[in-house]
Amino acid sequence: MKPHNFLCPKIVSLIFVLLIKFQGVAFAAENHEKFLKCLSLQSDTIAKVIYTQNNSSYSSVLKASIQNLIFSSPPNPKPLFIITPFHVSEIQAAIKCSKNNGLQIRVRSGGHDHEGLSSISDVPFIIVDLVNFSEISVDAEAKTAWVQSGASLGELNYRIAEKSQNLLAVPVGTCPGVGVGGHFSGGGYGALLRKYGIAADHIVDAHMIDAKGRFLTRESMGEDLFWAIRGSGGSSFGIIVSWKIKLVAVPPTVTVFAVPRTLEQNATRLLHKWQYIADRVHEDLFISPFLYRENSTMVCLFTSLFLGGVDRLLPLMQQSFPELGLTKEDCREMSFIESVVYLDGFKIRESINADVLINERFVKRFFIGKADFVTVPIPVEALEGAYDLFYEEDPRTYGLLVFFPYGGKMSEISESEIPFPHRAGNIYTLLYYAEWQDATDEAYQRHLNMVRKLFNYMTPYVTKNPRAAYINNRDLDIGTNNKLGHTSVQEASIWGKKYFKNNFYRLVQVKTMVDPEDFFRNEQSIPPFNLVKDEL
Ligand SMILES: Cc1cc2nc3c(=O)[nH]c(=O)nc-3n(C[C@H](O)[C@H](O)[C@H](O)COP(=O)(O)OP(=O)(O)OC[C@H]3O[C@@H](n4cnc5c(N)ncnc54)[C@H](O)[C@@H]3O)c2cc1C
Ligand SMILES: *[C@@H]1O[C@H](CO)[C@@H](O)[C@H](O)[C@H]1NC(C)=O
Ligand SMILES: *[C@@H]1O[C@H](CO)[C@@H](O)[C@H](O)[C@H]1NC(C)=O
Ligand SMILES: *[C@@H]1O[C@H](CO)[C@@H](O)[C@H](O)[C@H]1NC(C)=O
Ligand SMILES: *[C@@H]1O[C@H](CO)[C@@H](O)[C@H](O)[C@H]1NC(C)=O
Ligand SMILES: *[C@@H]1O[C@H](CO)[C@@H](O)[C@H](O)[C@H]1NC(C)=O
Repeated sequence: MKPHNFLCPKIVSLIFVLLIKFQGVAFAAENHEKFLKCLSLQSDTIAKVIYTQNNSSYSSVLKASIQNLIFSSPPNPKPLFIITPFHVSEIQAAIKCSKNNGLQIRVRSGGHDHEGLSSISDVPFIIVDLVNFSEISVDAEAKTAWVQSGASLGELNYRIAEKSQNLLAVPVGTCPGVGVGGHFSGGGYGALLRKYGIAADHIVDAHMIDAKGRFLTRESMGEDLFWAIRGSGGSSFGIIVSWKIKLVAVPPTVTVFAVPRTLEQNATRLLHKWQYIADRVHEDLFISPFLYRENSTMVCLFTSLFLGGVDRLLPLMQQSFPELGLTKEDCREMSFIESVVYLDGFKIRESINADVLINERFVKRFFIGKADFVTVPIPVEALEGAYDLFYEEDPRTYGLLVFFPYGGKMSEISESEIPFPHRAGNIYTLLYYAEWQDATDEAYQRHLNMVRKLFNYMTPYVTKNPRAAYINNRDLDIGTNNKLGHTSVQEASIWGKKYFKNNFYRLVQVKTMVDPEDFFRNEQSIPPFNLVKDEL
């Protein structure tokens, strides 16, 4: 197994597999007509952006944004219609007509949802696909930008760099293909988090459409709803069409490295030591280890972004992490935008052009991911125990652990500032990730098994009561899911407190205020308080 392109792989896989049992969806033909009629009455432009199941492009539009192939195989439930709006009025029409006709809406921006919730549902549904809602306008002087939800993180990074001569940025995740809509509404973090916090910390205004079809701005939605959409995960409160963000400064030169160490090269001791410095080193320094099996050894790849030149980095490393033995030759200086490309696979690309960050939506694969938070360093013997789980698997199984450091700015922001609550006290977050390209049930089971075994194994070493989780690494295994929306607040609080801690209850209050009928819902959306279900 080779350490290329870990989290943003470019695997080509064209065969689909029957993995998910089809759930029949009943929606009478006359209702089709009624729905389409409703849309045309609400909007004169919408006809051009409706894809019915009869349309020859339906299938390609549906699959275009499903990033996890588990959810694009034929037996998955399909939407009755896909609407790809260019105008707010078309989104308003989609909401009003879906409500009138008993259809659910799935909103899709970049389509990376780990559990496919932006593209499938067990009840009759449509997809509002924001693929063409992707404008970006950067005001370098005011250090702000407006970005529509359908834009990708790569394009956003590129436009900001272009308009600011590489001196401004936004703290977002490290995979350029991820969509702004899901990423911002769930939190969103990457290599700038220690210096600046997460994407949702930088949102200063938003435009959204609520369940009544009203267009809202920060001012008209009010501070409670504006609070709720910054980190609760998309799709509980409405469709957010665009976001205004505050930009942050990056230096003209940054430094990156990706240094592998095998067990023979003291990988375990280094990883163990890393836990004692990861969240404490200078906030300009982000070091994120990737742990995986290669041949008959384990490799720990120490990857890093430093916001400054190599001459300032080396003494910092010498002082806090001399054991790694980092040399000048291990490091590369570059512009921030070049580092964005570098961190997407740890390979040097000679030229950064628009194509790399804008047009290169990555090629799909099958994947499974889970996340944990760690507040106490994991002992050496426990790390070594985890290696056994890698060795037990068939060596074709492509799994890894990614250690993502916290501290710095993350510790300065209060847990209730926005719904994303994972702040002071966390040394790092641990991601469990497996991906494959073989479209067989056997490969699916093997990878699922590996991720679940690692996740269970780590139980004693990660946060407890609740075992914290991150909504952008959505995981339907962590509590009872909303089934057709019939979930009580009590039941939902099992996963709700893992994702949001006590912010969950404030989210329920906001939901009850703005969408009491629970129109915007999915398997893990915030439920409204309901007197029938939630008797005290
Ligand atoms: C390869 C890969 C790498 C990743 N790397 C990172 C990382 O570095 N850091 C990080 O923090 N996360 C990362 N993630 C997680 C990622 O941030 C989430 O999956 C995010 O929700 C994806 O957003 P999307 O728009 O692409 O997905 P979608 O599937 O389109 O949306 C995700 C959820 O949000 C809802 N939603 C989408 N758009 C809107 C909208 N406009 N209004 C309301 N609801 C909406 C959807 O209905 C769905 O429930 C990664 C995921 C993958 C697959
Ligand atoms: C498919 O839908 C699109 C968008 O509404 C429309 O422009 C196109 O004409 C339709 N194609 C067919 C074959 O119906
Ligand atoms: C799809 O096409 C068939 C025949 O071509 C027609 O009977 C059916 O009504 C159409 N369905 C929709 C939703 O347009
Ligand atoms: C998005 O817009 C482009 C340019 O107008 C168009 O070619 C494309 O078909 C649109 N995509 C979808 C899915 O509607
Ligand atoms: C591993 O660590 C030991 C000290 O514990 C040291 O003596 C040895 O040189 C290190 N090995 C490598 C390859 O760095
Ligand atoms: C794994 O094996 C390949 C092929 O023999 C070799 O090139 C590579 O260096 C090995 N990796 C490690 C970490 O030993």
